[in-house]
Amino acid sequence: MDIYQHKTGIKWVMAVLGLSVIVGTLLYTDYLAKRLVERESKLIHLYARALENAAKNVGTDNDMTFLMEEIIQANVSIPVILADEKGNPISDKNVEYPKEWKESIRIEFLKTQIHEMSEQHPPIKVEFYGIVNFIYYKNSYLLTLLRYYPYVQLGAIMLLIIVGYAAFSYSRKSEQNRVWVGLAKETAHQLGTPLSSLMAISEYFKEEASTRSNPMVSELAKDVERLEIITQRFAQIGLEGKLESVVVRDILEPQIRYLQARTSNKIEYSFQDTTNGARAKLNASLIGWVIENICKNAIDAMEGRGKLRLVLQSEGHQVHLDITDTGKGMNKKTIQSIFKPGYTTKKRGWGLGLTLVKRIMEEYHQGKVVVLKSEPGVGTTFRLSWTKVIG
Ligand SMILES: Nc1ncnc2c1ncn2[C@@H]1O[C@H](COP(=O)(O)OP(=O)(O)OP(=O)(O)O)[C@@H](O)[C@H]1O
Ligand SMILES: [Mg+2]
Repeated sequence: MDIYQHKTGIKWVMAVLGLSVIVGTLLYTDYLAKRLVERESKLIHLYARALENAAKNVGTDNDMTFLMEEIIQANVSIPVILADEKGNPISDKNVEYPKEWKESIRIEFLKTQIHEMSEQHPPIKVEFYGIVNFIYYKNSYLLTLLRYYPYVQLGAIMLLIIVGYAAFSYSRKSEQNRVWVGLAKETAHQLGTPLSSLMAISEYFKEEASTRSNPMVSELAKDVERLEIITQRFAQIGLEGKLESVVVRDILEPQIRYLQARTSNKIEYSFQDTTNGARAKLNASLIGWVIENICKNAIDAMEGRGKLRLVLQSEGHQVHLDITDTGKGMNKKTIQSIFKPGYTTKKRGWGLGLTLVKRIMEEYHQGKVVVLKSEPGVGTTFRLSWTKVIG
C-alpha cells in the first residue's frame, strides 16, 4: 500500500478545511463590520436631525448650545466633531487627545481630524437660524478593533499550530531516533557473541591441516567477514558514529573493490578521483553502508547489466561523490518519495535503504544526499556531499 499517497490526501483535506475556516472568519467579520458602519452612520444622521429639530424649538443661543452638547454627549463611542462652515471646530466628542493640550494645539489637531474624518465619511450638514454647521465623524474604535480582530485571531491560531507542529515533530523525531539507536545497539550486541565463536571456529579450520585446503573453509571465512562488517555497522549507528578526518578516496576505494568482487561482471564499475586527496570527516563503516545501499539500488535498476560510474570531485568547501547508473531511471514523483521510510517499488524491497542513507549522511555526517539527475529509461545520478576538511 502506498501510505504516502494516503498522507497527501489527508494533507489536502486539512488544507481545504483550514482555508475554509480562514475565508469564513474573514467574510463573517467583514459582514459584521459593514453592519456596524451602517448603524453608526444612521446614528450620526439621527443626531444631526435631532440637532436641527432641537434648534428650531429653543429660544436663546445659550439653550441651543446646551441642547447640542446634550445630544452630542449621548453618543459614547463614535468620534464626532461639530464644525462651522469654514471647518473651524465648535465642539467634539470621543476624539482622543491629552486634556492638558493648549487651545491652539487642540484646534489644530481637531482640524487634522476633520480632514481625516471627511475622507472616511461625507460630513452631515445641519442648519439652524440660517447658520450652517457640519458634523464630521469616523468609525468607532470598536469598529476598528473588529476589523483587525480576525487577523489577530488567525495569527494567534497560526502561531499555535506552528509551535504545536514543531513540538510534535521534534518529539516524533526523537522517538524515532531512540528506536533506531536502540534497535541497532541491540542487534550489534546480539550478533556479538555468536560472531566471536564463529570467528574462532573459522580460524581453527584455517589452521587445521585436515581442513585448511577445503574450499568451504574459505567460504566460511568470507561469510564471517561479512557478518563482522554488518555487526560493525550496527554498532556504529548505535554509537551515533565516531567521525575521523580521512582522505575520502582511501575510504571509498576498498568499499568499491569489495562491492565489485561481489557483483556480477556484467556490471562495469569505474571510479575516478579528481580531488587530489581531499579529506573529510567520515565514519568508514557507515559510509560503506551508504555506498552499498546506493550501488545495490543502481544494480537493481539496471537489472544486473550496465555501467556504474563513481566520480569523486571537490567544489568549494564540499566533496561530492556522484554515482551514476544506466538503469531504468525515475520520474519526478518517484524522486520525491524515495527517501521516505517504507517507500519501495520493488516486490521484495523494504524501502529502508535510502532512508538509512539519508540518515547516515545528514544526522551522522552533517552531509547531504540528493538525486542529481534521473531520466526514465536512461539512468540516475545520486550525489553524496561532505564538508571538506581544510589543512
Ligand atoms: N538508482 C535508482 N534507479 C531507479 N530507481 C531507484 C534508484 N535508487 C532508488 N530507486 C527507487 O527508490 C526506491 C526506494 O529505494 P530504497 O533503497 O529506499 O528501498 P528499496 O531498494 O526498494 O528497498 P530496500 O533498500 O529497503 O531493500 C526503490 O524502490 C526504487 O524505486
Ligand atoms: Mg535499496
